[in-house]
Amino acid sequence: MAVNNGRYAPMRRYGHITGWGKAVPDRVVTNSELAQIVDTSDEWISSRTGIRQRYVAVDPRETSATLGTRAARAALESADFPANRVDLIICTTSSPEHIFPSTGSIIQDALGATRAGAFDVSAACSGFVYGLSLAQGMISSGQADAVLVIGTETLSRIIDWSDRTTCVLFGDGSGAVLMQASTVPGGVLSTALGSDGSGGDLLTVPAGGSKQPATLDTVAAGQHFIKMDGRAVFRFATRVMADATREVLEKANMSIDDIDLVIPHQANERIIRSSMKALGLPDEKVFINLQNYGNTSTASIPIALCEAIEQKRLKPNDNVVMVGFGAGLTWAATAVKWAVPGLKDVPVWRAGQRTATYGLAQVRSRFLKFSRRVEGSLLTEEGDGWNEVVADRIEGWRKTRKD
Ligand code: UT7
Repeated sequence: MAVNNGRYAPMRRYGHITGWGKAVPDRVVTNSELAQIVDTSDEWISSRTGIRQRYVAVDPRETSATLGTRAARAALESADFPANRVDLIICTTSSPEHIFPSTGSIIQDALGATRAGAFDVSAACSGFVYGLSLAQGMISSGQADAVLVIGTETLSRIIDWSDRTTCVLFGDGSGAVLMQASTVPGGVLSTALGSDGSGGDLLTVPAGGSKQPATLDTVAAGQHFIKMDGRAVFRFATRVMADATREVLEKANMSIDDIDLVIPHQANERIIRSSMKALGLPDEKVFINLQNYGNTSTASIPIALCEAIEQKRLKPNDNVVMVGFGAGLTWAATAVKWAVPGLKDVPVWRAGQRTATYGLAQVRSRFLKFSRRVEGSLLTEEGDGWNEVVADRIEGWRKTRKD
């Protein structure tokens, strides 16, 4: 508690990013490989988007949850923080494992994060920054001390590989951060979230929800794949990236000159360059890695954050802005004071301890599934007497009819 004008007031709680991690599938698909399946070229893709390659989850066992789990484990490892002390898992994705259960819950089980609540956020490519904003809210209000925010995608599963206007753009991957409460000023300073649902049809997967449930016709018509009006999204993106950045700076009482690094959503190099130029930001203050990953939607910002840290582009006390846009239409930005002094020296034995913990989480999950089955079968065999009651009643009714 702090003393405030003679009264006791609770210490202000800040949400700091203390761990980070990323994961991608093994298979790299180059532009030239795509030119063999659709009418495109390496020259067109790289000059119009900046993308040179992307990762694709070819192995069907690799999913949004497995990638998200790998990224989350890496984030916990870099923070040297155990999964069973995480309070909340916010998973952001547009390619969830199912409509429900949430991919967040599947990741929670795989991590053995037994104390954590978990849910998914659907805000497309802006999702990760929406997640950071939620995590900050939970931390500053005292409802959570440690929150995992995960952006994870296997968009390759919902791409029409015969549509050259979309299949060249997207990639698979996952990035995660651990946010922890602290009384040290810094961390997430401000956030700006926006939505304009009137543009929902510009970027959509039309079928598979309650409006157009899956039928043989929807499948035959390719309505379960991503459909996009690229030019319209391009125009929207260049406008909102600059506006959202200005808004978070204003909320954090900062100016453009205070920014040390911008980590934008990695959709198209032309969108990034033109919106950052509009802000008057020099190229060296903008982090771009889409040439290697393509557009990984909500995973693009946390993957880029991890690479920026690996490349030592962030120092303690740097001001970093993360800004994204996407389907919805949505946009989101956050200004963060980077207060983490670089990777911690974690004892070697901790890796073994962690592997054992995740192994135990798997055993625990299987045991819980098994015990639920046993419980279910016992209930069916023994019953609660309902079957007998119904049988007696029917028998009684038959007797009455005969009489
Ligand atoms: O996370 C949010 C997700 N979405 C986005 O970020 C997308 C934002 N939009 C964009 O990045 C760009 O609009 C695209 C990269 C999708 C397209 O670039 P563009 O410069 O806006 O091209 P365009 O749509 O104006 O198309 C130019 C031409 C068209 O041919 P015509 O009509 O001029 O004959 C397209 O059919 O390029 C053609 N085209 C292609 N050509 C070769 C479209 N896709 C391809 C392709 N290869 N893959």
